[in-house]
Amino acid sequence: MTEEDLLYFKDFFLSYVEKFRSNDETIQKNIMLKKHHTLRVLENISIISKNLQLDENSDLLAKTIAIFHDIGRFYQFEKYKTFSDAQSENHAELGIKVLESAEVLSRLSKEEKTIILKAVQYHNMFKIPSNEESKYILFCKLIRDADKIDIYKVLTDYYGELDLDLNPAIEHNLPNIEHYSPIIIDDILNSRNSNSKLLRTRYDMRLLTLTWIFDINYKISIDLIKNRDFINKTLKVLPTNEDMTKVKVALYSYMENF
Ligand SMILES: [Fe+2]
Repeated sequence: MTEEDLLYFKDFFLSYVEKFRSNDETIQKNIMLKKHHTLRVLENISIISKNLQLDENSDLLAKTIAIFHDIGRFYQFEKYKTFSDAQSENHAELGIKVLESAEVLSRLSKEEKTIILKAVQYHNMFKIPSNEESKYILFCKLIRDADKIDIYKVLTDYYGELDLDLNPAIEHNLPNIEHYSPIIIDDILNSRNSNSKLLRTRYDMRLLTLTWIFDINYKISIDLIKNRDFINKTLKVLPTNEDMTKVKVALYSYMENF
């Protein structure tokens, strides 16, 4: 693919998002949230790709994946008013439908198109399917890191706001009660990802985001997470107790040893 193709995809994305412009303040706010998220994921993936010294074609493919990874989010929010896949539909599958029905990738080779669709499809899975071919796995890893780094930014910016009920969609409308599931603490202390079916409260969701560290693929991504202080900013909106002290020690030692 070429730089010109990338510009075409970026234009397609921006005009696609425009179609969702709404007079409803909640819808408009969340559409813009995902638009800006996408543009920052594009910046993140560019940093990672440069750090890994990817060849030009791979770099352009990675950037295209970033632009399209959440294209299903706009229809999802318009229709269901939530970003929770469990409460609506899988937004990655929705995204693939959007890309296929618009035939936007038809200017690329069959192989390039497959790389992009697989990366979009796998970007939000608990794990990349272990039987997938290695030539596709690189791109899945890139988008998963770039995406998580920006979700940390969106969430921790939100935690910094005075009123955490300004946009409850960000935390999937989970109840704001002072309880968390011990199993997620256990997962963190054992360097394991947690399964999102466990989510009951906002504390669970915040702890779950901390387990994403164990799914980060590249040192540069760990460095970005560390430098932007996302872990401490998340711990600030969790209780102060012995569990959380252990969680902090476990996460920092994991990052140090990465
Ligand atoms: Fe996504």
